[in-house]
Amino acid sequence: MNQILHIECSARGDASFSSRVARYAVESLLRENPGVHVARRNLGSEPPPHLSAGFVDAILLPPHTRTTAQRDALALSETLIEELELADVVVMGTPMHNYAVPSGLKAWFDHIMRAGRTFSLSPQGKIGLLRDRPVLVAVSSGGFFTGGGAARQPDYLTGYVRAVFATIGIRNVEFVTVEGMGRGRDREAIMLASARRWIDANIGARERRQARVM
Ligand SMILES: Cc1cc2nc3c(=O)[nH]c(=O)nc-3n(C[C@H](O)[C@H](O)[C@H](O)COP(=O)(O)O)c2cc1C
Repeated sequence: MNQILHIECSARGDASFSSRVARYAVESLLRENPGVHVARRNLGSEPPPHLSAGFVDAILLPPHTRTTAQRDALALSETLIEELELADVVVMGTPMHNYAVPSGLKAWFDHIMRAGRTFSLSPQGKIGLLRDRPVLVAVSSGGFFTGGGAARQPDYLTGYVRAVFATIGIRNVEFVTVEGMGRGRDREAIMLASARRWIDANIGARERRQARVM
């Protein structure tokens, strides 16, 4: 492993629960793989802009016919895609907002999902053009959305994130959730401890297994 892409999606900085869990996962990976480079992208404090008319026009054109202005309109998209291409592992922390991903993360997906660049179109449907790699998504929510009876709301987050990553070829996506974070300090502590245990058991163990195979 050479590079981890660490993406934070909460605007709440150090107070963010999803960021805390994602950071713990990155630290675990670094303990297992000292010296690995970590590229960081904060979609909470610096969200990518909504797509402009220039962007939408440019993505529809064959690359060699794009004007300088059209290439400029795609510059951030290229940077974000290259960051993802370089990553051997992606660790993401995201809140649930209105049953779905926060708008900064939605904008990131809008910038990286490009026909002819990260997926191709075929009569059989979309074919991903990126190599598969592990993605760990730490999700924080005020209420509950997994766990059968305790869930009192729809979940348009996990299925969406799985679907868009799968479209570009990334199928190895796992979620660790801290739910009910609006239910008081005791609940927060229980959920954060449980997420840390899951990471200790799964991230470290998987890395050690891979190291033995290699
Ligand atoms: C705009 C907004 C929308 C939210 N929507 C939901 C929601 O649909 N379901 C839920 O369980 N919690 C919702 N919450 C609560 C957050 O998911 C919760 O506070 C979470 O801990 C935020 O993640 P963070 O701590 O990483 O910032 C929402 C919070 C905000 C600010």
